[in-house]
Amino acid sequence: MNILIIYAHPNPESFNAAICDAVEKEFKSKDFQVRKRDLYQMKFNPILTEDDYSSFYQDKVPADIQAEQSELIWANIFVFVFPTWWAGMPAILKGYFDRVFTNGFAFRYSDEGPEGLLKEKQALIFQTTGQPEKSLKPPQLTMAMQASFDVGIMNFCGIETLAHKFIYSVPYVDEETRKIMLNEVKEVVEMIGKQK
Ligand SMILES: Cc1cc2nc3c(=O)[nH]c(=O)nc-3n(C[C@H](O)[C@H](O)[C@H](O)COP(=O)(O)O)c2cc1C
Repeated sequence: MNILIIYAHPNPESFNAAICDAVEKEFKSKDFQVRKRDLYQMKFNPILTEDDYSSFYQDKVPADIQAEQSELIWANIFVFVFPTWWAGMPAILKGYFDRVFTNGFAFRYSDEGPEGLLKEKQALIFQTTGQPEKSLKPPQLTMAMQASFDVGIMNFCGIETLAHKFIYSVPYVDEETRKIMLNEVKEVVEMIGKQK
């Protein structure tokens, strides 16, 4: 089983970095092959330009994007690790989808409508928030973020979401709670590992 971690946080000292490390270590300890795309460290260009936009509809893909797509082809499970920024994902990750999940690679349109092309792939999502669960759930923000990611992107491309775990109130919790949170992350990975 091959695991591709797609990580979007600019600060190597962040809690997201700790989650990313925990995921990487846990999968490696279970003898999975693990690769990581650290979008900020790579200085991934998230901007879909007019050139890309035209190619997007012509199935022509620039070399840097082909390289990213090769990584996705290699992987069985994609693990996304990112913070909530403005009730969604950081722009660099959104741009990764804009530019890498192209028409003809991640999906295509046929006479019957859109068809996901990444049907063999699965996804695991770890998303941190600043706000507590009680502020995000009642106005349905958690559900909206989950729907747009798991259904609007993953499911649209044929990818099965194994789990989408929200880790709430990160800036406000103490060290002890953070340890518990990291343990929960490990438990999710362990559970997935056991199923494979
Ligand atoms: C630009 C920006 C926008 C943010 N928007 C939200 C938001 O909409 N909802 C929320 O709960 N937290 C929001 N936050 C807080 C982050 O989600 C939170 O600080 C982060 O998940 C904590 O993880 P970290 O310590 O690894 O950065 C935002 C933070 C930034 C920098």
